[in-house]
Amino acid sequence: RTGYIALDPGYANTGSCESAITFIDGDRGILRYRGIPIEQFEQAPNFVEVAWLLIFGRLPSAEEYRAFSEQLTASANLDESMKHHFEGFPRSAPPMAILSAMINALSCFHPEYFELDDRAHFQAAAAGLISKIRTIAAYAYRHSVGQPYIYPNPRLPYVPNFLHMLFSQPYAEYVCDPLVRDALNLILILHADHEQNCSTSTVRMVGSSQANLFASCAAGVCALWGPLHGGANVAVIEMLEQIHRGQLSVEDYVRLAKDKNTKMRLMGFGHRIYKNLDPRAKILGRVAEQLLPKLGVKDPLLDIARRLEEIARNDPYFIERKLYPNVDFYSGILLRAIGIPTNMFTVIFAIGRLPGWIAHWWEQAQTEGMRIARPRQLYIGLTPSDYAPHESRV
Ligand code: SDX
Repeated sequence: RTGYIALDPGYANTGSCESAITFIDGDRGILRYRGIPIEQFEQAPNFVEVAWLLIFGRLPSAEEYRAFSEQLTASANLDESMKHHFEGFPRSAPPMAILSAMINALSCFHPEYFELDDRAHFQAAAAGLISKIRTIAAYAYRHSVGQPYIYPNPRLPYVPNFLHMLFSQPYAEYVCDPLVRDALNLILILHADHEQNCSTSTVRMVGSSQANLFASCAAGVCALWGPLHGGANVAVIEMLEQIHRGQLSVEDYVRLAKDKNTKMRLMGFGHRIYKNLDPRAKILGRVAEQLLPKLGVKDPLLDIARRLEEIARNDPYFIERKLYPNVDFYSGILLRAIGIPTNMFTVIFAIGRLPGWIAHWWEQAQTEGMRIARPRQLYIGLTPSDYAPHESRV
């Protein structure tokens, strides 16, 4: 192991920890990756170099970037026998279920990724996972629509290669529009890390038992799947489509979302940390306004989203509770515009968040004196009592 970090292993007991990866100021709507504000990644967005930044703590040199890209290209294929696993799932299987299962299965095919006792082995495992998650995601989608799997193309960069595996046909290669390439790079970057959110804390919790990187990230996929977390990007589109179909007006939906009896929520709104506009939502909303016309896409859901935001931003209920659009509010509209199927939205979130999970797993694994996470509880159960034999029970 190289370079122990003297972080507070307090996480083991208190559920909080020290980390040097991402900084959030929820009141001022600030998000920085290793000190760099996310707004600075908008020009020529490059997800691969941001993944390196999060994991290794600084932007890669030209040589490091070249070598890492080569590792990603070289490890994009899955073991051929893994294809049989996809066939074992029903076509209707949620892609997040397949993603978690297949990431876990990877550790069975790559025992070399277990021994992460030095930086070189860890980097190879990180590159393997960041590369293969695309192939797994694409194959899960192709299985869901009954289409043949498309092998990764070693001549394509990270994002175009993923879109190639998703959308190419044996008779017609998918051509990646640079606007789409940049939009998806930016979407992945904006999802790449977010300090101790539910799924990242899950990865740290599982990793604290010295479970391997793949098992820990497979657990992160399961946590992210929930509609209160990464699953919200699908729930937002379902909400907007319900309004678009005329089942409910925008005003009705806002009213029902405020009514505690309905258990409804304005999906894509609110955040435990941001009590101001989520800076990611600000960027995604702006990119959606700019990109859709350039792609010749007119999506009525964008107009509905803007209307919802305007009403909520002026409604005392949302103002008092400091509820603003979060990362999930506009991401689905952008993903639709670039052709991503709705059932893949949360998978895209997972692909983006993977470098953050890996960075936190590695940061924790290098922490001197790392101990297994063991949060405590406040017992509110029954007072001590004695066992009662069957015949004496009423
Ligand atoms: C992500 O943690 C992260 O960093 C997550 C994430 C990341 O990058 O990893 O940012 C990604 O998960 C974004 C959040 C996606 N989820 C949603 O959009 C689902 C809708 N949002 C809510 O469920 C909620 O806002 C949460 C889950 C995001 C936050 O929940 P909290 O912090 O537990 O807030 P809460 O449930 O305690 O709500 C506080 C009050 C309550 O009202 P009162 O009891 O005070 O009267 O605000 C209300 C809530 O009812 N409220 C909402 C609301 N969100 C909160 N009311 C209507 N609509 C909403 N969306």
